[in-house]
Amino acid sequence: MKNRTLFFGDNLEILRKKIPSESFDLIYLDPPFNSSRDYNVLFKEGLQDSPAQVHAFEDSWHWSRESKHTFDHLVTKTNDNIAKLMLALEKILGHNDVLAYLVMMTVRLIELHRVLKKTGSLYLHCDPTASHYLKIVLDVVFGKKNFRNEIIWHYRRWTAKAKKFQRLHDIIFFYSKSDNYIWNQPYIPYTEGSLKRKEHTLHRFKGEEKYLVKKTKEEGVPENDVWQIPFIPPSAKERLGYPTQKPEALLEKIIKASSNEGDWILDPFCGCGTTVAVAEKLKRKWVGVDITSLAINLIKYRLRNRLGIGKKQIYTDGLPTDLSGAKELFKKDPFEFEYWALDLVNAIPSQSKSRDKMRGADKGIDGVIYFHKNMANGNGNGNRNGKGKWEYGKAIVQVKGGSVQRSQIATLKGDVEREKAEAGIFITLEEPTKPMTSEAVNAGSFSTPLTGKIEFPRIQIITVKELLRGKIPNLPQGLVENYYKEAEAIDIEENQTNKIDLKF
Ligand SMILES: C[S@@+](CC[C@H](N)C(=O)[O-])C[C@H]1O[C@@H](n2cnc3c(N)ncnc32)[C@H](O)[C@@H]1O
Repeated sequence: MKNRTLFFGDNLEILRKKIPSESFDLIYLDPPFNSSRDYNVLFKEGLQDSPAQVHAFEDSWHWSRESKHTFDHLVTKTNDNIAKLMLALEKILGHNDVLAYLVMMTVRLIELHRVLKKTGSLYLHCDPTASHYLKIVLDVVFGKKNFRNEIIWHYRRWTAKAKKFQRLHDIIFFYSKSDNYIWNQPYIPYTEGSLKRKEHTLHRFKGEEKYLVKKTKEEGVPENDVWQIPFIPPSAKERLGYPTQKPEALLEKIIKASSNEGDWILDPFCGCGTTVAVAEKLKRKWVGVDITSLAINLIKYRLRNRLGIGKKQIYTDGLPTDLSGAKELFKKDPFEFEYWALDLVNAIPSQSKSRDKMRGADKGIDGVIYFHKNMANGNGNGNRNGKGKWEYGKAIVQVKGGSVQRSQIATLKGDVEREKAEAGIFITLEEPTKPMTSEAVNAGSFSTPLTGKIEFPRIQIITVKELLRGKIPNLPQGLVENYYKEAEAIDIEENQTNKIDLKF
């Protein structure tokens, strides 16, 4: 296994096919489970007989044919304890979303237990909707004696008034694989009160003063299992606009306590890569898995932009590397194909499925590429060293996997005008027709104050085949730092209405 590996795909399949036993020192997982849905709705009996469709921002667990199949596998093909557990849960819950979730989690936790080293630990992040059931599952998979902590992550946020106490915490279960597990005792500073009491004690035992003062300053008290860590504030540098992004401070505590430099860390539901980014910073080796290429792209951006780790230093597995792979991905999941293609041109996805839903709009734009256009109030045309504010230009990107025709180029031209963009990039899996090419050529060209006389084609058609050979859009210099600017702005808006950070 290679350090810095990002797997694109379903973690169950990847764990089973690609991860050898006893590979990891630490596993952190934060599976999707949308607890904001009404508790009763969640527990309602439901027989949705469709294959589980898993998307990044959706509550993805429904009782389906696949859950039934996995349930039967757990009952008949694992061990007696797991079988008993599954049958008991079925009796208590019936066939609903919660049972589907527990079935999907159990089969994955069995694999995660397998790939953990004997000295390793697992942290499972969840919320109170299903945590009580998950603890039973973990007790059976890891053994009750290997339960170490139920960590409460306490945060503050605005919540709507309800006839109950505000819910302001998540739960993180900490299990080890054996008694002999890696542990670096974390300390938190003494409170002022206990420092004062200590001073008093020092006063009374003058002889030991030096030793006690040193101890007080360096260690503090051993960390407890209630962690007060704020949500990522809207203005924070680490914020990427991924709805379920967890704070780096949370992962830092876990990684420092349960691993050492050079150790192997796995996050099988890695989202926008909080675990892998912190692991990288703390000099650990890491592997991340996510089922959406949006997450994989975002992680690559995060590592490149925030930590200076280039795309070439990251090993990506599961994404197409040739034309037939691209065709296969399009057939399997057109949305994932779109995210993948957008990443090839370093575009930010502007109309992801989730955002469509959130904004209720579909302007038919798949992605945007920003570039430097001008330096306003600076010291002259095109002087990059001058003071002043950058003005950005943008190219809007359309991705097409199916058949293509001339009218789509005309539509893109219209979109460019409406969006006041400088350019339009049309990415296609199929070869463009001649009328399409001439429509694009007839759209003319543009230049910017920075590029002066250099002209760039206003509409560009690029085939996936060309992209795979390394062709890139012909645009003024790109703006890597700002690729996710738009996503961040949207997220801040949402954050202000949904969750207000009150900070500790
Ligand atoms: C709650 S988010 C994780 C957020 C992450 N902790 C972070 O800080 O960004 C859950 C992630 O699991 C991914 N996911 C869902 N089902 C998956 C599966 N079967 N295999 C791999 N990833 C999956 C989703 O795409 C989503 O990005």
